Amino acid sequence: MYDNNPTIPGHSKEMDESKQGTALMLDDNPSTNKKSFYIESYGCQMNFSDSEIVASILAKAGYSSTRNMEESDLILINTCSIREKAEDTVRRRLTEFNKVKRSKPSTIIGVLGCMAERLKAKFLEEEKLVDIVVGPDAYRDLPNLISSADEGNRSINVLLSREETYADIAPLRLQSNGISAFISIMRGCDNMCSFCVVPFTRGRERSRDPFTIVSEATDLFQKGYKEVTLLGQNVDSFKWENPETKEIVSFADLLEMVALVHPDLRVRFSTSHPKDITDDVLYKIKDYKNICNYIHLPAQSGNSRVLKLMNRTYDREWYLQKIDRIYEIIPDCAISSDFISGFCTETEDEHNESLSLISYAKYTMSFMFFYSERPGTLAAKKYEDDIPLDIKKRRLAEIVELQMNLSLEHNLKDVGQTFEVLVEGDSKRSAEEFKGRNSQNKVIIFPKVAGVKPGDYLDVKVTDATRATLRGVAV
Ligand code: SAH
Ligand code: SF4
Ligand code: F3S
Repeated sequence: MYDNNPTIPGHSKEMDESKQGTALMLDDNPSTNKKSFYIESYGCQMNFSDSEIVASILAKAGYSSTRNMEESDLILINTCSIREKAEDTVRRRLTEFNKVKRSKPSTIIGVLGCMAERLKAKFLEEEKLVDIVVGPDAYRDLPNLISSADEGNRSINVLLSREETYADIAPLRLQSNGISAFISIMRGCDNMCSFCVVPFTRGRERSRDPFTIVSEATDLFQKGYKEVTLLGQNVDSFKWENPETKEIVSFADLLEMVALVHPDLRVRFSTSHPKDITDDVLYKIKDYKNICNYIHLPAQSGNSRVLKLMNRTYDREWYLQKIDRIYEIIPDCAISSDFISGFCTETEDEHNESLSLISYAKYTMSFMFFYSERPGTLAAKKYEDDIPLDIKKRRLAEIVELQMNLSLEHNLKDVGQTFEVLVEGDSKRSAEEFKGRNSQNKVIIFPKVAGVKPGDYLDVKVTDATRATLRGVAV
């Protein structure tokens, strides 16, 4: 579950994280004497989605948003703990915020999200200029925590919940293109991948009432949105029991419910866990044209021994069978992945098995990382982080290089083909060109056509391909 722009093949996620540290804002609202907040978000799509929930809670509490940190009364940072580098970025930003606070001491600084949850009160001890610390399940308490901080009390709420899904809160869409939106369908994670901090920072898995999900999707469509991405750490284990009828709604059922909102509303989802994705889900993708032919199916490693140490609960053969099954049911499906190089005790041969798995799976792109030990995780407790950094990095470079070649190969195969593209807006480089995506989540750039606007669907024939993008012409 990552950024909404998984189109650059072979790039490291670390780059993404720093890139994603963008200030989010609502319409600037300079007219009132209301208090204002400024928020920056890091990490995965779920964190970005949470920032939209936070913005909604703050708006209700009378705060307007600003993109000017110096002017704001409240500076918030929604943080990520997934790798050490992600936390380093947050600390650097806090140093910048502290400079602002020194010149304007009434400014409240708040740390939200996974790093707040991981470090808890330690944050208040370590980072002297942090006023509030709020974990991912405690955002409803923000107005209270802010009032308390206004009175000079540094405050913290990092309670995790088994129920909280923020189902009733309509997220304020921040920095939206008005075409695509995220919808959180569940929170937390019950898997215990040994390298991963998420179960500790996000708590137990819980699924959101599917009817609130459908009404959010319907509302978005009525507002002109044409694409929703259903978010969860492990969407395939979505499971909701109707309290009255006791009927179970599975992820496959949910996909169908959202697909039925309107044939012109594209449905995407992330992330799928190889152990949980079912044939039912694959058939829904096949049966509904508006459920996109794209699956993010992180492998992490191609070697069964390493996968066992990682506690992924599948082995190489199981994963390869899943890949075969996907291509069997949805032949034109695009698949992407995540890999970690240099996990504890990984040998050269085992690393080579990651490379061979990547070649077999023919991913359109991957997010690739070298292993970063996280305090408190099973791996940190049980295994030695024994692969030297230079070897981790060299193995990562080999994975990246291979993926880039595969991405190019994949894209070259698209040349000459015509795809239905959802127009998202101007291309980055030119106001004469549009940028859009096909069902496989590949970005296609093409010259503008009279009468076509963002949010329209259009058939585009691919004429040219690089590793990262396709170019084409409307047909
Ligand atoms: N729920 C998703 C992953 C969320 S974290 C899933 O199961 O696929 C996103 C990615 O970060 C992971 O897929 C993994 O590749 C990477 N990652 C997580 N912990 C890491 C660590 N300690 N070091 C390096 N990469 C890590
Ligand atoms: Fe982390 Fe594994 Fe859960 Fe993904 S499934 S969030 S990698 S514990
Ligand atoms: Fe997401 Fe980072 Fe937390 S990846 S769940 S913000 S640790």
